[in-house]
Amino acid sequence: MSNLNEAYWETFEAKRKKLKSEIANDPWRLTFHQMPETGWLNDPNGAIQFNGTYHLYHQYVPDNPEGGLVHWGHKTSADMVNFHEEEIFLSPEETYDRDGVYSGSALENNGIIHYFYTGNVKNDGDHDYTFSGREQNTIHMTSKDGFTIDSKRVVIAHEDYPEGFTDHIRDPKVFEKEGTFYMILGARALNHRGKILIYSSKDLDHWHYEGVFLEGDKEMGYMFECPDFFETEERDVVIFSPQGLKATKHAYSNVHNAGYYLGHVDWDNLSFIPESSFKELDRGFDFYAPQTFEDESGRRILWGWMGLGDISPEYSNPTVARGWQHAMTLPRELTVENGQLKQRPLKEYESLRKNEVKTAVKVSESYELENQNPRTFELILTLEQLGESLSVHMKEDTVLSYDGQIFSLAHGPSGFGRSERTVEVEDLTRIHVIADTSSIEIFLNDGDYVLSTRVYPKHEKDTIRFEGDAELSIEKWDLEI
Ligand code: FRU
Repeated sequence: MSNLNEAYWETFEAKRKKLKSEIANDPWRLTFHQMPETGWLNDPNGAIQFNGTYHLYHQYVPDNPEGGLVHWGHKTSADMVNFHEEEIFLSPEETYDRDGVYSGSALENNGIIHYFYTGNVKNDGDHDYTFSGREQNTIHMTSKDGFTIDSKRVVIAHEDYPEGFTDHIRDPKVFEKEGTFYMILGARALNHRGKILIYSSKDLDHWHYEGVFLEGDKEMGYMFECPDFFETEERDVVIFSPQGLKATKHAYSNVHNAGYYLGHVDWDNLSFIPESSFKELDRGFDFYAPQTFEDESGRRILWGWMGLGDISPEYSNPTVARGWQHAMTLPRELTVENGQLKQRPLKEYESLRKNEVKTAVKVSESYELENQNPRTFELILTLEQLGESLSVHMKEDTVLSYDGQIFSLAHGPSGFGRSERTVEVEDLTRIHVIADTSSIEIFLNDGDYVLSTRVYPKHEKDTIRFEGDAELSIEKWDLEI
């Protein structure tokens, strides 16, 4: 018996068949990124490496590309590059999660995977501000293998959360520190400030409320979703997805934004003390609700939901008409080096490189690089010298440019209504682009900034064109999986 609830299962197969036929032959299906087999995908959940196998679960609505009742989809991998689509792992079938098995995390303890997720229940009434209309229960679930659920029970019921909060308390992230387990939860306080709550436990089943781990001020928006936390040798890192941040000239430009503080935890008071400003993890159009995990080699790896995106009303994702929507970013390795969070694409993806081109060029006005495979490629530009400016044209009408101060990512018609994202970078020396059929991820200066975006070109013959005034070394590969 699959983990999918029976009533849903009955109607699901027919719809899936239809969606699959719409999807077949869609040239915008990604090749080395994870996406929904059919329907809708949002947040990464329960990311873990267990007995060598990587598991990526995710928010998933298999029968509707525009979202709806969320399940946990499931993909596995032995090498973080080739993934296998698994059966739906978790579906809303209990009274405490009947309106969606929301986001959560996983950790291993004594050879068992322990998952924590939010069971969403919408009763009649107000779903946002009171304690009557919505329930968000915290559920503990176990599995011996990552495929079959052995146990499931509510460990913090919605009525047991502390006073002073709206119905929005969710997205448990659990970690262990010196024999104690901690759970952090994102929350919206009654005064419409975002907060992260912290609980402790000795046995993963009984949880004790410890207080507020991180408190947002007015500037930080009204709700913190998807909190995450890890330690590095240099600093502790807290990641979350605040809702309601005001856009500034160059930052927080999407519907919602995700970012981090570097700082340290005061373990006596169980509170996080930020020592940096709040920084966005990604400055492109498509990034939200990331989750990290430590793999068996000790790397801290992050996946983000490459979706949500632009605030402009005219933007719509053209894959919806083809039966699916959204994807994950490439997995990135996170490190903190000299007070700076760095994000780099996982080394494993270098195995996809084919047909290397290496050249040094002096651009004055215009230079074209033949691009045999405009669908999927990687480009590393080292800026040896910059005159007034440099622009790089790719994917038919997407333009990356730098003028010594501002880096810009601008879309044309294939961006479907998206305009421009900008980052102030004082000394840009390296632009690293990873392009899949309908996505571009750009890493600046070896991971100081990242910009992720979806793009929908027609895939006609295409070149990479450079304009402006600069001296460059260029490395380029086709990427083939
Ligand atoms: C973030 C989020 C989470 C929630 C999930 C529901 O995108 O809103 O807070 O658990 O999505 O799908």
